[in-house]
Amino acid sequence: MRAVVMVSGGGTNLQAILDAIRDGKITNTEICGVISNRPDAYALTRAQKAGVPAICVSRKSFETRQEFADALLAAVDSCKPDLIVLAGFLVIIPEEMIRRYEGKIINIHPSLIPSFCGDGFYGLHVHERVLARGVKVTGATVHFVDEGTDTGPILLQKAVAIEPDDTPEVLQRRVMEQAEWQILPKAIDAIANGRIRKDANGNWFVTE
Ligand code: GAR
Repeated sequence: MRAVVMVSGGGTNLQAILDAIRDGKITNTEICGVISNRPDAYALTRAQKAGVPAICVSRKSFETRQEFADALLAAVDSCKPDLIVLAGFLVIIPEEMIRRYEGKIINIHPSLIPSFCGDGFYGLHVHERVLARGVKVTGATVHFVDEGTDTGPILLQKAVAIEPDDTPEVLQRRVMEQAEWQILPKAIDAIANGRIRKDANGNWFVTE
């Protein structure tokens, strides 16, 4: 399976994927490209270090949103991917990309959807809102991407406990370590090896 990973920031989830491929925890998968919308994303350096082709498609390089969307789609198309992985990609995915790659785009979100998701819920803000609400359990979700924000079918989730006196940064790190860096590689390996199925309720599960 050929997978393209789209990123905007530090790229720790990308690193978890690259490490899992190196360690044989993800099989049957080649990262054919990494696409960042930010030229300064450390994720680009991680890709280069791993010998994976990496490019930046920045909104600032284009006059209109449509031109930016066309360039993003062209970059994705040139990889000929079987799967698109949004790993901290903080740009709304163009509708045409969602249509063209229906059922082939997954996203990692740092909460237990449908809590703490949707417009404005990204990165550290998610953990700030979790702590402000006082919930005792949070986590991460891998889901397929549809036209909405964080509304697509859920594939995998993992819960993480909130501890007294957590800061958003401390909680973000725990959610990454205990949930994101585990379930995102697990989802990719399951998809690459045909180990996902829809149950009688129409919901997706990873089969062991
Ligand atoms: C991750 O926590 C990811 O779940 C989140 O951005 C972070 C990227 O970190 N994504 C979202 O909030 C999407 N709504 P990384 O660049 O170190 O992988």
